[in-house]
Amino acid sequence: MIKLENVTKSFGDLIVLKDISVTINGGDYITIMGKSGAGKTTFISMLGLMDRPTSGKYLLDGQDVVNKLDEEVSRLRNEEFGFVFQGYNLINDLTVEENILIPVMYGRKKQVDVEYLDSLLNRLDIKHLLHKKVNKLSGGEKQRVAIARAVVNKPATIIADEPTGSLDTTNRDAVLQIFRELNKEGVTIILVTHDISLTKDATRSYRLAMGHLI
Ligand SMILES: Nc1ncnc2c1ncn2[C@@H]1O[C@H](COP(=O)(O)OP(=O)(O)OP(=O)(O)O)[C@@H](O)[C@H]1O
Ligand SMILES: [Mg+2]
Repeated sequence: MIKLENVTKSFGDLIVLKDISVTINGGDYITIMGKSGAGKTTFISMLGLMDRPTSGKYLLDGQDVVNKLDEEVSRLRNEEFGFVFQGYNLINDLTVEENILIPVMYGRKKQVDVEYLDSLLNRLDIKHLLHKKVNKLSGGEKQRVAIARAVVNKPATIIADEPTGSLDTTNRDAVLQIFRELNKEGVTIILVTHDISLTKDATRSYRLAMGHLI
């Protein structure tokens, strides 16, 4: 469970998030909309422990994470979250396969569920790309690789920043179906999207505007 209390986030004079209090329960499916620059990426970076609030409280499963040491926060982040970044954040010099297996290397088990991985590759239609370097891929291909990487370890929480933005409808539906199935298994899903049709899967839909989450 993620619980924020009166959280603010500023960059210098710019106050991006104002007094946000929200609880996200395990197994929730959350969507966050809002116009460009509203603070969506800032908000989910904080939720995913990639950045700290300027003020306020963040409790992850009851633990105060704001005052933890960096290394402990990194460990929690790796154990708890799978990310799909807005700019994919893949490692260009590595192959598709190597990129997808990064969370496995950093995970506790260090072992991949081969059957699950194979079904992901098929469903995301990236099996034929496994041995290609990421810098040779199209935007939509990169996005699908980024999604495979985010879900390969079945993290407790998946945070995805516009994960369907560069996908055609077939791939988009495949991705949404993967998220739905993981959510059925109890995985918490947090999606930033500009596509209102994605809110139909959500248990709660939020909007960020003027620094407030409503
Ligand atoms: N590291 C940073 N330093 C300074 N300002 C930042 C930083 N990160 C974000 N901002 C500013 O915070 C505001 C919110 O940015 P953010 O990326 O969260 O918006 P967004 O809602 O994700 O937008 P988009 O839909 O375009 O991705 C913007 O005005 C941006 O310029
Ligand atoms: Mg953004």
